[in-house]
Amino acid sequence: MCGIVGYIGSRPAADIVVSGLKKLEYRGYDSAGLAVLDPAAPSIGLFRAVGKIAELDKAIASHPPASTCTVGIGHTRWATHGAPTVANAHPHLSMDGRIAVVHNGIIENYLALRSRLESKGYVFKSETDTEVLAHLIQDCLDGGLAESVMRALVHVEGTYGIAVVSSDFPGVLVAARKGSPIVIGDCRGEAIVASDVSAIIQHTDKVVFLDDGDVAVLTPEGAELRTLGNSTVSRSSTVVDWDPGAIEKGGFEHFMLKEIFEQPEAIANTIRGRLLLDDGTCKLSGLQLDPQKMAEITNIVVTACGTSYYAGLVGSYAFEQFAGIPARIEQAAEFRYRNPIIAPNTALVSISQSGETADTLAAVREAKRKGALTLSICNVVGSTIAREAGRGVYLHAGPEIGVASTKAFICQVAVLDMMAIMLGRTRRMSNSEGTTMVAAMLRLPEIVKRVLEQNDAIRAIAEKYHQARDFFYIGRGYMFPAALEGALKLKEISYIHAEGYHAAELKHGPIALLDEHVPVVACVPQIPGHRKTLGNVQECRARRAPVIAIATEGDPDIGGLANDVISIPECPEFIAPIPVVVAEQLFAYHMANLRGEPIDQPRNLAKSVTVE
Ligand code: M6R
Repeated sequence: MCGIVGYIGSRPAADIVVSGLKKLEYRGYDSAGLAVLDPAAPSIGLFRAVGKIAELDKAIASHPPASTCTVGIGHTRWATHGAPTVANAHPHLSMDGRIAVVHNGIIENYLALRSRLESKGYVFKSETDTEVLAHLIQDCLDGGLAESVMRALVHVEGTYGIAVVSSDFPGVLVAARKGSPIVIGDCRGEAIVASDVSAIIQHTDKVVFLDDGDVAVLTPEGAELRTLGNSTVSRSSTVVDWDPGAIEKGGFEHFMLKEIFEQPEAIANTIRGRLLLDDGTCKLSGLQLDPQKMAEITNIVVTACGTSYYAGLVGSYAFEQFAGIPARIEQAAEFRYRNPIIAPNTALVSISQSGETADTLAAVREAKRKGALTLSICNVVGSTIAREAGRGVYLHAGPEIGVASTKAFICQVAVLDMMAIMLGRTRRMSNSEGTTMVAAMLRLPEIVKRVLEQNDAIRAIAEKYHQARDFFYIGRGYMFPAALEGALKLKEISYIHAEGYHAAELKHGPIALLDEHVPVVACVPQIPGHRKTLGNVQECRARRAPVIAIATEGDPDIGGLANDVISIPECPEFIAPIPVVVAEQLFAYHMANLRGEPIDQPRNLAKSVTVE
């Protein structure tokens, strides 16, 4: 979604801001812009372009700002209010042209604010909600820029992460947050602000995340934090342990492929130090659950969106099967509106790679309000959901840049499995059962590697099918979430229509669509339910549908049944979604690549969905 970068210091701001925006490209956007000013001769230079940042680069190159312009804010916009046009691109200027604003989030009362400002004579040049902020700050101007921004924000309903500069106050850059992340780099002799640490880590690994209601006043001397009511606050800084090189492609054609191949290492990092073989259990210190607290949990509600939801579905099975705790999964987008019943002693497990997904965050807040014990599984350290939940587990998967989530899924499943083992061991699971499960999990990096070794074979299969228009993915038990995730991966990057179905549900309607033009991916490793799914594969073949099976190596039955087979190493059912989904990721990747689609930035999609 939208991205923000701001800089104030002694170096040319345009270079730093635009290079930061490039690090945010993965979030998805459709226009970009930059505003710079020279503290010695302050007037705002504005550059905006529709399309990729390369277009913004061209706009800047045609009238390059002076190197003395050492203050700047930039933005990548993912259109919500108004089409992707230059007029709607950020930054937006106040009517007098002296204030520039970039904004992530949604101003919910912007129509009311707009008509109030129009009645005072303000003229709007865009269809955006953001432009309201620029005029509103001008209207509230009294004293310094920070105070004027605070005064304006009092009138705003909705969510925002903003950065503001003004030619009247060239020595200061103001940022504020409510519901949309803002992070400040802890630098010397300059200050940098962004909506995402990816734009900051090449400058510093020490960052400060703003809380809702915080206003940051940035000067070349550093950042000072205040509340909306103008009292000073302090927030502790976090060290981000990402290698800046991790946000480069490192020789791979796409971030997605790089991230798929990083998975053995990512999962090794997720399980490192957390699997206790001798005790047949797991240690997840961030959950802060002692055995007594664990014993008190009588229900688990899992919530998430998209790929994280499918990982959560795997987790909900594992919690019931291994911990014996009733568990259900809820779409995060439904959670607060459905007004769910949260029984006493319920743990709410929220899952989010980014830790910023608006619906998941809202579900966490609602569950907290209803008295649940909130536990999170996030990848981004210090992200809003992780902080809001208070207790949680980080994936340590490293930055995930590709819009299609890959390594986050497998690491989320690994964490959920570890939680199930840990909870199970405080209940009915024996040491020997726990040890067997832990031993299986220790093999995961190797299991994933074995699937990756089939990359060329999977590409060859994709070559046979990449012209198809529709696909079905089927599975049962732990393979049902794997089928759902496989279909999501294919549709989001290749734009091929794909549906994930429970293998048994196929004949309750969708089988009517099958013929020789509709391939079926059958997730059918040798785990419980295998025989029954083979029966469903027969039903597909009887309708002439080509079948690509993802099956256990050496399965004697599958060769005669499927048109194509991708093998995964033998493994128990609770971890089987991991290798199966890795095979699906490679298949989706090659399908999309053969069709020439822009894999890392699929149309209409954003990496982090910070609006409802
Ligand atoms: O950051 P989150 O895990 O909360 O994101 C949830 C979904 O938006 C995300 O998984 C989305 O479905 C991906 N594009 C899937 O590849």
